[in-house]
Amino acid sequence: IGIYIAAVVIGYLLGSIPFGLILTRFAGTQDLRSIGSGNIGATNVLRTGRKGLAAATLLLDALKGTAAVIIAAAIAHGTDAVPANAAMLAALGAFLGHLFPIWLKFKGGKGVAVYIGVLLGLFWPGAVVFCVLWLATAYTTRYSSLSALVAAFITPIFLWWFGHPALASLFAVLTLLLFWMHRENIKRLQAGKESRIGEKK
Ligand code: G3P
Repeated sequence: IGIYIAAVVIGYLLGSIPFGLILTRFAGTQDLRSIGSGNIGATNVLRTGRKGLAAATLLLDALKGTAAVIIAAAIAHGTDAVPANAAMLAALGAFLGHLFPIWLKFKGGKGVAVYIGVLLGLFWPGAVVFCVLWLATAYTTRYSSLSALVAAFITPIFLWWFGHPALASLFAVLTLLLFWMHRENIKRLQAGKESRIGEKK
């Protein structure tokens, strides 16, 4: 049980590192919370006009999730704990850490990058499917949020269909949280007011 608690805590601590905020502060851009959607994720970093910083945010926010999964599986190895279960708990911890970081008074990001990252660590074909769905939707609609919603909706179904019921359940929970974090985006999409990729506002 100690290993499982450690997995959640390590996941949470890694997940709660707000790379978007750190990188933009380091680069001296406008405060992310005062521009665009106010979110700390890669999509909003893009609204600063710094594509490289946005790409780095996406990559680092994803990889912190992958790292959490890999570390948890490694520390569970050779103990009574099941590495696959420790990895899933670390994924949950990392996702919650990103959404609700203690350092930012629990006001974190919306979870898209870290969703991809933990999926990459747990079952990489799932991450490929997510990215293909995201890119296809983004290519046709230019909405970052809608692309994430479509990809996250289908991912648990894909996991279940391909014989991974435990992962499907975990990602169904992550998808519900992701939808909740996108509630303002969903309202804007319904009202036709969501900004498209490449737009500043
Ligand atoms: O990853 C978040 C994205 O789906 C939406 O971001 O800044 O447009 O709310 P944003």
